[in-house]
Amino acid sequence: MWTLDGEGPLYQQVYRAVRRAILNTDLAPGTRVPSTRAFASDLGVSRNTVILAYDQLLSEGYIATREGSGTFVATDLPEDLTEAIRSDRGDAQSDDIFTPRLSAYARRFRNLTNGRQLSWQSHEPMHRFDFRYGRPNFFDFPHDTWCRVLGRRARRASIHQLDYGPPNGREELRSAISEYLWRSRGVVCTPEQVIIVNGSQQALDLAARTLVDPGQRVVIEEPHYPGARIAFETAGAEIVAGNVDEEGLQVATLPTDDSIRLAYVTPAHQFPTGASMPIQRRVEVLAWAEKCGALIFEDDYDSEFRYTGRPVEALQGLDRAGRVIYAGTFSKLMFPALRLGYMVLPAALVQPMTAAKAATDTGCPSLEQLALADFMKEGHFDRHLRRSRTRNARRREALLSALQEHLGDQVEIGGVNAGLHILAWLRGFATRRLPALRRRAAERGVGIYPVTPYYRQPPKKAGLLLGFASLQEKEIQQGIARLAEIIKQPPPNPKPAESGKPSDLGQAD
Ligand SMILES: Cc1ncc(COP(=O)(O)O)c(C=O)c1O
Repeated sequence: MWTLDGEGPLYQQVYRAVRRAILNTDLAPGTRVPSTRAFASDLGVSRNTVILAYDQLLSEGYIATREGSGTFVATDLPEDLTEAIRSDRGDAQSDDIFTPRLSAYARRFRNLTNGRQLSWQSHEPMHRFDFRYGRPNFFDFPHDTWCRVLGRRARRASIHQLDYGPPNGREELRSAISEYLWRSRGVVCTPEQVIIVNGSQQALDLAARTLVDPGQRVVIEEPHYPGARIAFETAGAEIVAGNVDEEGLQVATLPTDDSIRLAYVTPAHQFPTGASMPIQRRVEVLAWAEKCGALIFEDDYDSEFRYTGRPVEALQGLDRAGRVIYAGTFSKLMFPALRLGYMVLPAALVQPMTAAKAATDTGCPSLEQLALADFMKEGHFDRHLRRSRTRNARRREALLSALQEHLGDQVEIGGVNAGLHILAWLRGFATRRLPALRRRAAERGVGIYPVTPYYRQPPKKAGLLLGFASLQEKEIQQGIARLAEIIKQPPPNPKPAESGKPSDLGQAD
Protein backbone atom coordinates (compact mmCIF):
# COMPACT_ATOMS: atom_id res chain seq x y z
CA MET A 1 0.00 0.00 0.00
CA TRP A 2 2.81 2.38 0.79
CA THR A 3 4.76 3.62 -2.22
CA LEU A 4 6.86 6.73 -1.99
CA ASP A 5 7.06 8.78 -5.19
CA GLY A 6 10.78 9.58 -4.81
CA GLU A 7 10.34 13.33 -5.38
CA GLY A 8 11.69 15.98 -2.99
CA PRO A 9 12.29 15.71 0.75
CA LEU A 10 11.50 12.34 2.31
CA TYR A 11 8.97 13.69 4.79
CA GLN A 12 7.03 15.24 1.88
CA GLN A 13 6.98 11.86 0.13
CA VAL A 14 5.59 10.22 3.26
CA TYR A 15 3.07 13.06 3.63
CA ARG A 16 1.88 12.53 0.04
CA ALA A 17 1.62 8.77 0.44
CA VAL A 18 -0.61 9.04 3.53
CA ARG A 19 -2.62 11.85 1.99
CA ARG A 20 -3.18 9.73 -1.13
CA ALA A 21 -4.40 6.85 1.05
CA ILE A 22 -6.83 9.22 2.78
CA LEU A 23 -8.06 10.69 -0.49
CA ASN A 24 -8.80 7.37 -2.10
CA THR A 25 -10.23 6.10 1.22
CA ASP A 26 -7.67 3.31 1.71
CA LEU A 27 -7.57 5.02 5.08
CA ALA A 28 -11.22 5.77 5.80
CA PRO A 29 -12.37 8.67 8.01
CA GLY A 30 -11.99 7.73 11.65
CA THR A 31 -9.38 5.01 10.98
CA ARG A 32 -6.40 4.97 13.27
CA VAL A 33 -3.21 5.87 11.39
CA PRO A 34 -0.13 3.72 12.02
CA SER A 35 2.00 4.81 14.97
CA THR A 36 5.02 6.88 13.98
CA ARG A 37 7.40 4.20 15.23
CA ALA A 38 5.71 1.30 13.43
CA PHE A 39 5.23 3.29 10.24
CA ALA A 40 8.86 4.48 10.21
CA SER A 41 10.05 0.93 10.55
CA ASP A 42 7.64 -0.29 7.79
CA LEU A 43 8.91 2.36 5.41
CA GLY A 44 12.56 2.13 6.44
CA VAL A 45 12.74 5.87 7.23
CA SER A 46 13.55 7.69 10.45
CA ARG A 47 10.82 8.31 12.96
CA ASN A 48 11.51 12.03 12.69
CA THR A 49 10.58 11.91 8.98
CA VAL A 50 7.21 10.36 9.81
CA ILE A 51 6.63 12.87 12.61
CA LEU A 52 7.22 15.77 10.21
CA ALA A 53 4.85 14.23 7.66
CA TYR A 54 2.16 13.64 10.29
CA ASP A 55 2.61 17.16 11.59
CA GLN A 56 1.84 18.55 8.14
CA LEU A 57 -1.22 16.27 7.79
CA LEU A 58 -2.31 17.36 11.23
CA SER A 59 -1.95 21.06 10.50
CA GLU A 60 -3.89 20.64 7.24
CA GLY A 61 -6.69 18.79 9.01
CA TYR A 62 -6.34 15.37 7.32
CA ILE A 63 -5.65 13.66 10.61
CA ALA A 64 -6.43 14.51 14.21
CA THR A 65 -5.12 13.38 17.57
CA ARG A 66 -7.32 12.19 20.39
CA GLU A 67 -5.73 12.77 23.76
CA GLY A 68 -4.45 9.46 25.08
CA SER A 69 -5.80 7.26 22.29
CA GLY A 70 -3.73 8.04 19.22
CA THR A 71 -4.00 9.60 15.78
CA PHE A 72 -6.94 9.10 13.42
CA VAL A 73 -8.04 10.12 9.94
CA ALA A 74 -10.22 13.18 10.43
CA THR A 75 -13.95 12.59 10.31
CA ASP A 76 -14.70 16.21 9.38
CA LEU A 77 -12.35 16.59 6.44
CA PRO A 78 -10.99 20.04 5.53
CA GLU A 79 -13.16 22.33 3.43
CA ASP A 80 -11.07 22.17 0.30
CA LEU A 81 -10.61 18.40 0.45
CA THR A 82 -13.36 17.65 -2.02
CA GLU A 83 -11.58 19.95 -4.41
CA ALA A 84 -8.32 18.12 -3.73
CA ILE A 85 -10.05 14.79 -4.39
CA ARG A 86 -11.41 16.10 -7.66
CA SER A 87 -8.08 17.49 -8.77
CA ASP A 88 -6.33 14.33 -7.64
CA ARG A 89 -8.56 12.40 -9.99
CA GLY A 90 -8.11 15.13 -12.61
CA ASP A 91 -7.19 12.76 -15.39
CA ALA A 92 -9.60 9.97 -14.59
CA GLN A 93 -12.61 9.65 -16.87
CA SER A 94 -16.09 9.24 -15.50
CA ASP A 95 -19.13 8.01 -17.40
CA ASP A 96 -21.30 11.05 -17.06
CA ILE A 97 -19.11 13.91 -15.89
CA PHE A 98 -16.65 15.36 -18.33
CA THR A 99 -13.24 15.80 -16.70
CA PRO A 100 -11.16 18.35 -18.57
CA ARG A 101 -7.53 17.47 -19.09
CA LEU A 102 -5.35 20.04 -17.36
CA SER A 103 -2.43 21.78 -19.05
CA ALA A 104 1.13 20.90 -18.07
CA TYR A 105 1.24 24.23 -16.24
CA ALA A 106 -1.85 23.42 -14.14
CA ARG A 107 -0.62 19.89 -13.46
CA ARG A 108 2.72 21.21 -12.26
CA PHE A 109 0.89 23.62 -9.97
CA ARG A 110 -1.34 20.85 -8.64
CA ASN A 111 1.61 18.62 -7.90
CA LEU A 112 3.52 21.40 -6.18
CA THR A 113 0.68 22.45 -3.96
CA ASN A 114 -0.79 19.00 -3.33
CA GLY A 115 -4.05 20.10 -4.94
CA ARG A 116 -4.66 22.87 -2.41
CA GLN A 117 -5.11 26.59 -2.97
CA LEU A 118 -2.06 28.80 -2.66
CA SER A 119 -3.51 31.08 -0.04
CA TRP A 120 -2.02 33.06 2.82
CA GLN A 121 -5.46 33.52 4.32
CA SER A 122 -5.35 32.50 7.94
CA HIS A 123 -8.06 30.03 8.96
CA GLU A 124 -6.74 29.64 12.46
CA PRO A 125 -8.46 31.70 15.12
CA MET A 126 -6.17 34.35 16.57
CA HIS A 127 -4.61 33.23 19.84
CA ARG A 128 -4.65 35.48 22.88
CA PHE A 129 -0.88 35.97 22.46
CA ASP A 130 -0.37 35.40 18.77
CA PHE A 131 3.20 35.67 17.46
CA ARG A 132 1.99 35.37 13.88
CA TYR A 133 4.21 36.99 11.29
CA GLY A 134 3.84 38.52 7.84
CA ARG A 135 1.10 40.95 8.91
CA PRO A 136 1.19 44.56 10.07
CA ASN A 137 -0.76 45.63 13.14
CA PHE A 138 -4.17 46.45 11.69
CA PHE A 139 -4.97 48.75 14.62
CA ASP A 140 -1.98 50.96 13.77
CA PHE A 141 -3.47 51.83 10.40
CA PRO A 142 -5.14 55.29 10.18
CA HIS A 143 -8.41 53.86 8.98
CA ASP A 144 -10.42 57.08 9.25
CA THR A 145 -7.96 59.02 7.12
CA TRP A 146 -7.91 56.25 4.53
CA CYS A 147 -11.73 56.20 4.39
CA ARG A 148 -11.79 59.96 3.90
CA VAL A 149 -9.27 59.87 1.04
CA LEU A 150 -10.97 56.87 -0.57
CA GLY A 151 -14.44 58.40 -0.17
CA ARG A 152 -13.34 61.65 -1.77
CA ARG A 153 -12.05 59.80 -4.84
CA ALA A 154 -15.15 57.58 -4.98
CA ARG A 155 -17.48 60.58 -4.92
CA ARG A 156 -15.63 62.24 -7.79
CA ALA A 157 -16.39 59.31 -10.12
CA SER A 158 -15.20 61.02 -13.31
CA ILE A 159 -15.16 59.22 -16.66
CA HIS A 160 -11.39 59.18 -16.34
CA GLN A 161 -11.84 57.11 -13.23
CA LEU A 162 -14.64 54.81 -14.34
CA ASP A 163 -13.24 53.68 -17.67
CA TYR A 164 -10.58 50.98 -18.14
CA GLY A 165 -7.28 52.17 -16.75
CA PRO A 166 -3.77 51.68 -18.12
CA PRO A 167 -2.61 48.06 -17.58
CA ASN A 168 0.69 49.23 -16.09
CA GLY A 169 -1.15 51.30 -13.46
CA ARG A 170 -2.28 54.87 -12.86
CA GLU A 171 0.35 57.49 -13.59
CA GLU A 172 -0.49 59.29 -10.32
CA LEU A 173 0.47 56.23 -8.29
CA ARG A 174 3.49 55.28 -10.39
CA SER A 175 4.93 58.80 -9.87
CA ALA A 176 4.27 58.73 -6.13
CA ILE A 177 5.96 55.33 -5.86
CA SER A 178 9.05 56.25 -7.89
CA GLU A 179 9.53 59.37 -5.76
CA TYR A 180 9.05 57.39 -2.53
CA LEU A 181 11.40 54.58 -3.58
CA TRP A 182 14.18 56.98 -4.50
CA ARG A 183 13.89 58.78 -1.18
CA SER A 184 13.49 55.72 1.05
CA ARG A 185 15.29 52.87 -0.72
CA GLY A 186 17.72 54.46 -3.16
CA VAL A 187 15.82 52.91 -6.09
CA VAL A 188 16.67 54.76 -9.31
CA CYS A 189 13.78 54.79 -11.78
CA THR A 190 11.34 56.88 -13.77
CA PRO A 191 7.56 56.45 -13.29
CA GLU A 192 7.53 54.67 -16.68
CA GLN A 193 9.62 51.84 -15.22
CA VAL A 194 7.05 51.21 -12.48
CA ILE A 195 4.21 48.71 -13.02
CA ILE A 196 1.44 48.50 -10.46
CA VAL A 197 0.65 44.88 -9.64
CA ASN A 198 -1.83 43.01 -7.54
CA GLY A 199 0.76 42.41 -4.75
CA SER A 200 4.28 40.99 -5.03
CA GLN A 201 2.88 37.54 -5.75
CA GLN A 202 1.72 38.83 -9.11
CA ALA A 203 5.17 40.34 -9.71
CA LEU A 204 6.66 36.88 -9.16
CA ASP A 205 4.13 35.26 -11.46
CA LEU A 206 4.72 37.82 -14.23
CA ALA A 207 8.49 37.42 -13.97
CA ALA A 208 8.17 33.63 -14.07
CA ARG A 209 5.86 33.63 -17.09
CA THR A 210 7.71 36.23 -19.14
CA LEU A 211 11.30 35.23 -18.37
CA VAL A 212 11.52 31.50 -17.69
CA ASP A 213 10.99 28.61 -20.07
CA PRO A 214 10.47 25.04 -18.84
CA GLY A 215 13.79 23.44 -17.97
CA GLN A 216 15.65 26.71 -17.34
CA ARG A 217 17.33 27.15 -13.99
CA VAL A 218 16.26 29.62 -11.31
CA VAL A 219 18.13 30.19 -8.05
CA ILE A 220 16.08 30.57 -4.90
CA GLU A 221 17.27 30.99 -1.35
CA GLU A 222 17.31 28.04 1.07
CA PRO A 223 15.35 28.53 3.28
CA HIS A 224 13.00 30.49 1.09
CA TYR A 225 9.66 32.19 0.54
CA PRO A 226 7.39 29.47 -0.93
CA GLY A 227 5.38 31.93 -3.04
CA ALA A 228 8.52 32.53 -5.11
CA ARG A 229 9.46 28.87 -5.53
CA ILE A 230 5.94 27.93 -6.56
CA ALA A 231 5.74 30.73 -9.15
CA PHE A 232 9.02 29.71 -10.80
CA GLU A 233 8.53 25.96 -10.49
CA THR A 234 5.05 26.18 -11.96
CA ALA A 235 6.54 27.98 -14.95
CA GLY A 236 8.67 24.83 -15.37
CA ALA A 237 11.92 26.15 -13.88
CA GLU A 238 14.49 23.81 -12.46
CA ILE A 239 15.18 25.14 -8.99
CA VAL A 240 18.73 25.64 -7.74
CA ALA A 241 18.74 26.17 -3.97
CA GLY A 242 21.41 28.63 -2.80
CA ASN A 243 22.30 28.42 0.88
CA VAL A 244 21.84 31.38 3.15
CA ASP A 245 24.19 32.50 5.94
CA GLU A 246 24.01 35.52 8.25
CA GLU A 247 24.73 37.78 5.24
CA GLY A 248 22.00 36.31 3.05
CA LEU A 249 22.42 34.29 -0.15
CA GLN A 250 25.87 32.71 -0.40
CA VAL A 251 26.64 33.69 -3.99
CA ALA A 252 30.13 32.21 -3.90
CA THR A 253 28.59 28.71 -3.80
CA LEU A 254 26.33 29.22 -6.83
CA PRO A 255 26.97 27.83 -10.30
CA THR A 256 28.22 30.45 -12.75
CA ASP A 257 27.23 28.94 -16.09
CA ASP A 258 24.75 30.48 -18.49
CA SER A 259 22.00 27.96 -17.73
CA ILE A 260 20.88 30.18 -14.83
CA ARG A 261 18.10 32.47 -15.95
CA LEU A 262 17.29 34.31 -12.75
CA ALA A 263 17.98 34.46 -9.00
CA TYR A 264 15.30 35.34 -6.46
CA VAL A 265 16.67 37.21 -3.41
CA THR A 266 15.38 39.04 -0.33
CA PRO A 267 18.51 41.11 0.47
CA ALA A 268 17.10 43.62 2.97
CA HIS A 269 15.54 41.01 5.26
CA GLN A 270 15.99 37.45 4.10
CA PHE A 271 12.78 35.47 4.40
CA PRO A 272 12.58 33.67 6.79
CA THR A 273 15.98 34.00 8.54
CA GLY A 274 15.97 37.82 8.63
CA ALA A 275 19.61 38.05 7.45
CA SER A 276 20.49 41.42 6.04
CA MET A 277 22.85 41.44 3.06
CA PRO A 278 25.79 43.82 3.50
CA ILE A 279 27.03 45.97 0.66
CA GLN A 280 29.99 43.70 -0.25
CA ARG A 281 27.64 40.72 -0.71
CA ARG A 282 25.28 42.84 -2.81
CA VAL A 283 28.10 43.82 -5.11
CA GLU A 284 29.04 40.12 -5.33
CA VAL A 285 25.45 39.22 -6.30
CA LEU A 286 25.49 41.73 -9.13
CA ALA A 287 28.90 40.55 -10.32
CA TRP A 288 27.68 36.94 -10.26
CA ALA A 289 24.59 37.87 -12.33
CA GLU A 290 26.83 39.64 -14.83
CA LYS A 291 29.09 36.60 -15.09
CA CYS A 292 26.34 34.11 -15.86
CA GLY A 293 24.05 36.47 -17.77
CA ALA A 294 21.25 36.13 -15.20
CA LEU A 295 18.59 38.51 -13.95
CA ILE A 296 17.98 39.24 -10.26
CA PHE A 297 14.51 39.38 -8.72
CA GLU A 298 14.79 41.55 -5.62
CA ASP A 299 11.84 41.04 -3.25
CA ASP A 300 11.91 44.03 -0.89
CA TYR A 301 8.84 43.00 1.06
CA ASP A 302 9.26 44.63 4.49
CA SER A 303 12.50 46.61 4.49
CA GLU A 304 10.80 49.85 5.54
CA PHE A 305 11.01 48.51 9.06
CA ARG A 306 14.70 48.88 9.86
CA TYR A 307 15.77 49.19 13.51
CA THR A 308 19.54 49.13 13.83
CA GLY A 309 22.52 49.86 11.65
CA ARG A 310 22.59 51.95 8.52
CA PRO A 311 19.84 51.13 6.03
CA VAL A 312 21.45 49.53 3.02
CA GLU A 313 19.99 50.75 -0.22
CA ALA A 314 18.20 48.40 -2.59
CA LEU A 315 20.23 46.24 -4.97
CA GLN A 316 18.35 47.96 -7.75
CA GLY A 317 20.08 51.26 -6.88
CA LEU A 318 23.50 49.64 -7.32
CA ASP A 319 22.66 48.00 -10.62
CA ARG A 320 24.13 49.80 -13.61
CA ALA A 321 23.47 47.06 -16.15
CA GLY A 322 19.66 46.74 -15.96
CA ARG A 323 19.67 43.25 -14.45
CA VAL A 324 17.51 43.85 -11.39
CA ILE A 325 13.75 43.48 -11.22
CA TYR A 326 12.68 45.15 -8.00
CA ALA A 327 9.36 44.27 -6.31
CA GLY A 328 7.65 45.78 -3.28
CA THR A 329 4.23 45.57 -1.69
CA PHE A 330 1.74 47.65 0.27
CA SER A 331 0.67 44.55 2.20
CA LYS A 332 2.92 45.32 5.18
CA LEU A 333 2.67 49.12 5.10
CA MET A 334 -1.03 49.47 4.44
CA PHE A 335 -2.92 46.14 4.66
CA PRO A 336 -2.78 42.92 2.59
CA ALA A 337 -6.41 43.07 1.42
CA LEU A 338 -5.53 46.19 -0.58
CA ARG A 339 -3.72 43.87 -3.03
CA LEU A 340 -1.45 46.54 -4.44
CA GLY A 341 2.26 46.27 -5.04
CA TYR A 342 4.79 47.41 -7.62
CA MET A 343 7.60 46.27 -9.83
CA VAL A 344 10.43 48.51 -10.99
CA LEU A 345 11.71 47.14 -14.26
CA PRO A 346 14.76 47.52 -16.47
CA ALA A 347 13.52 49.56 -19.47
CA ALA A 348 13.66 46.55 -21.83
CA LEU A 349 11.18 44.60 -19.71
CA VAL A 350 8.49 47.26 -19.34
CA GLN A 351 6.64 46.42 -22.55
CA PRO A 352 6.66 42.59 -22.24
CA MET A 353 5.63 42.69 -18.57
CA THR A 354 2.89 45.23 -19.25
CA ALA A 355 1.59 43.02 -22.05
CA ALA A 356 1.57 39.98 -19.75
CA LYS A 357 -0.20 41.97 -17.04
CA ALA A 358 -2.79 43.23 -19.55
CA ALA A 359 -3.44 39.70 -20.74
CA THR A 360 -4.00 38.57 -17.16
CA ASP A 361 -6.25 41.27 -15.72
CA THR A 362 -6.16 44.44 -17.87
CA GLY A 363 -4.85 46.35 -14.86
CA CYS A 364 -5.49 46.90 -11.15
CA PRO A 365 -8.62 48.72 -9.88
CA SER A 366 -8.36 52.49 -10.43
CA LEU A 367 -10.17 53.76 -7.36
CA GLU A 368 -7.74 52.25 -4.86
CA GLN A 369 -4.74 53.27 -6.94
CA LEU A 370 -5.86 56.90 -7.13
CA ALA A 371 -6.74 57.01 -3.44
CA LEU A 372 -3.36 55.53 -2.55
CA ALA A 373 -1.60 58.13 -4.71
CA ASP A 374 -3.46 60.87 -2.78
CA PHE A 375 -2.67 59.17 0.52
CA MET A 376 1.02 59.24 -0.37
CA LYS A 377 1.13 62.75 -1.84
CA GLU A 378 -0.71 64.27 1.11
CA GLY A 379 1.85 62.86 3.56
CA HIS A 380 -0.46 60.33 5.31
CA PHE A 381 1.64 57.40 4.14
CA ASP A 382 4.93 58.81 5.50
CA ARG A 383 3.27 59.74 8.76
CA HIS A 384 1.80 56.25 9.15
CA LEU A 385 5.15 54.70 8.30
CA ARG A 386 7.00 56.81 10.90
CA ARG A 387 4.43 55.97 13.56
CA SER A 388 4.29 52.26 12.89
CA ARG A 389 8.08 52.07 12.68
CA THR A 390 8.32 53.56 16.20
CA ARG A 391 5.63 51.22 17.54
CA ASN A 392 7.15 48.17 15.94
CA ALA A 393 10.59 49.12 17.26
CA ARG A 394 9.11 49.10 20.78
CA ARG A 395 7.42 45.75 20.19
CA ARG A 396 10.65 44.28 18.86
CA GLU A 397 12.52 45.59 21.91
CA ALA A 398 9.88 44.04 24.19
CA LEU A 399 10.23 40.69 22.42
CA LEU A 400 14.01 40.68 22.63
CA SER A 401 14.07 41.60 26.30
CA ALA A 402 11.32 39.07 27.16
CA LEU A 403 13.27 36.31 25.40
CA GLN A 404 16.42 37.36 27.24
CA GLU A 405 14.62 37.48 30.59
CA HIS A 406 12.69 34.21 30.31
CA LEU A 407 14.86 32.03 28.11
CA GLY A 408 18.32 33.63 28.29
CA ASP A 409 20.87 31.55 26.44
CA GLN A 410 18.34 28.82 25.75
CA VAL A 411 17.58 30.80 22.59
CA GLU A 412 19.76 32.04 19.80
CA ILE A 413 18.13 34.95 18.01
CA GLY A 414 18.55 35.97 14.39
CA GLY A 415 17.14 38.48 11.95
CA VAL A 416 16.56 41.28 14.43
CA ASN A 417 17.68 44.30 12.43
CA ALA A 418 14.63 44.72 10.24
CA GLY A 419 11.15 43.51 9.38
CA LEU A 420 8.25 42.35 11.51
CA HIS A 421 9.50 39.00 12.80
CA ILE A 422 12.60 37.40 14.29
CA LEU A 423 13.87 33.85 14.14
CA ALA A 424 14.48 32.17 17.51
CA TRP A 425 16.44 28.92 17.56
CA LEU A 426 15.74 26.88 20.69
CA ARG A 427 19.04 25.50 21.98
CA GLY A 428 18.93 21.86 23.06
CA PHE A 429 15.28 21.46 22.04
CA ALA A 430 14.68 18.52 19.69
CA THR A 431 12.86 19.41 16.44
CA ARG A 432 10.55 16.42 16.91
CA ARG A 433 9.13 18.11 20.01
CA LEU A 434 7.96 21.17 18.03
CA PRO A 435 4.46 19.90 17.15
CA ALA A 436 3.76 19.18 20.83
CA LEU A 437 5.21 22.53 21.86
CA ARG A 438 2.99 24.27 19.36
CA ARG A 439 -0.08 22.43 20.59
CA ARG A 440 0.62 23.06 24.26
CA ALA A 441 1.34 26.71 23.57
CA ALA A 442 -1.96 27.02 21.68
CA GLU A 443 -3.82 25.43 24.61
CA ARG A 444 -2.42 28.23 26.76
CA GLY A 445 -3.35 30.91 24.23
CA VAL A 446 0.10 31.38 22.68
CA GLY A 447 0.42 31.17 18.87
CA ILE A 448 3.88 30.10 17.68
CA TYR A 449 5.10 29.13 14.22
CA PRO A 450 7.96 26.72 13.46
CA VAL A 451 10.32 27.77 10.66
CA THR A 452 10.53 24.18 9.33
CA PRO A 453 8.08 24.56 6.38
CA TYR A 454 10.37 27.11 4.73
CA TYR A 455 13.20 24.60 4.32
CA ARG A 456 13.44 22.03 1.56
CA GLN A 457 15.52 19.92 3.95
CA PRO A 458 14.22 20.37 7.51
CA PRO A 459 16.84 22.07 9.73
CA LYS A 460 18.47 20.09 12.53
CA LYS A 461 17.71 22.82 15.08
CA ALA A 462 14.25 23.79 16.34
CA GLY A 463 13.42 27.30 15.11
CA LEU A 464 10.40 29.53 15.69
CA LEU A 465 9.38 32.52 13.65
CA LEU A 466 8.10 35.07 16.12
CA GLY A 467 6.17 37.97 14.63
CA PHE A 468 5.81 40.93 16.94
CA ALA A 469 3.67 43.43 15.02
CA SER A 470 0.25 42.07 16.01
CA LEU A 471 0.81 42.35 19.77
CA GLN A 472 1.32 45.13 22.27
CA GLU A 473 4.44 45.18 24.46
CA LYS A 474 2.70 43.86 27.56
CA GLU A 475 1.14 40.99 25.62
CA ILE A 476 4.54 40.14 24.17
CA GLN A 477 6.00 39.95 27.70
CA GLN A 478 3.15 37.73 28.94
CA GLY A 479 3.15 35.51 25.86
CA ILE A 480 6.90 34.86 26.05
CA ALA A 481 6.69 34.18 29.80
CA ARG A 482 4.05 31.49 29.13
CA LEU A 483 5.99 30.08 26.22
CA ALA A 484 9.16 29.84 28.33
CA GLU A 485 7.28 27.89 31.01
CA ILE A 486 6.11 25.37 28.42
CA ILE A 487 9.55 25.09 26.82
CA LYS A 488 11.12 24.43 30.20
CA GLN A 489 8.70 21.63 31.07
CA PRO A 490 10.48 18.29 30.67
CA PRO A 491 9.18 16.20 27.75
CA PRO A 492 6.66 13.56 28.86
CA ASN A 493 8.09 10.10 29.36
CA PRO A 494 8.02 8.03 26.19
CA LYS A 495 5.49 5.24 26.30
CA PRO A 496 7.07 1.79 26.50
CA ALA A 497 7.47 0.36 22.99
CA GLU A 498 5.83 -2.93 23.90
CA SER A 499 2.54 -1.21 24.76
CA GLY A 500 1.90 -1.22 21.00
CA LYS A 501 -0.14 1.96 21.33
CA PRO A 502 0.30 4.51 18.57
CA SER A 503 2.13 7.49 19.97
CA ASP A 504 0.57 10.86 20.25
CA LEU A 505 2.37 12.95 17.62
CA GLY A 506 3.36 15.57 20.10
CA GLN A 507 4.76 13.10 22.58
CA ALA A 508 7.08 11.56 20.07
CA ASP A 509 10.47 10.85 21.50
C1 LIG B 1 9.01 37.39 1.30
C2 LIG B 1 7.65 37.80 0.85
N1 LIG B 1 7.47 38.24 -0.40
C3 LIG B 1 6.25 38.58 -0.85
C4 LIG B 1 5.14 38.50 -0.05
C5 LIG B 1 3.77 38.71 -0.64
O1 LIG B 1 3.32 39.95 -0.64
P1 LIG B 1 1.97 40.32 -1.36
O2 LIG B 1 0.92 40.36 -0.31
O3 LIG B 1 2.27 41.67 -1.92
O4 LIG B 1 1.67 39.35 -2.46
C6 LIG B 1 5.26 38.08 1.26
C7 LIG B 1 4.06 37.98 2.10
O5 LIG B 1 4.07 37.71 3.26
C8 LIG B 1 6.55 37.72 1.73
O6 LIG B 1 6.71 37.28 2.99
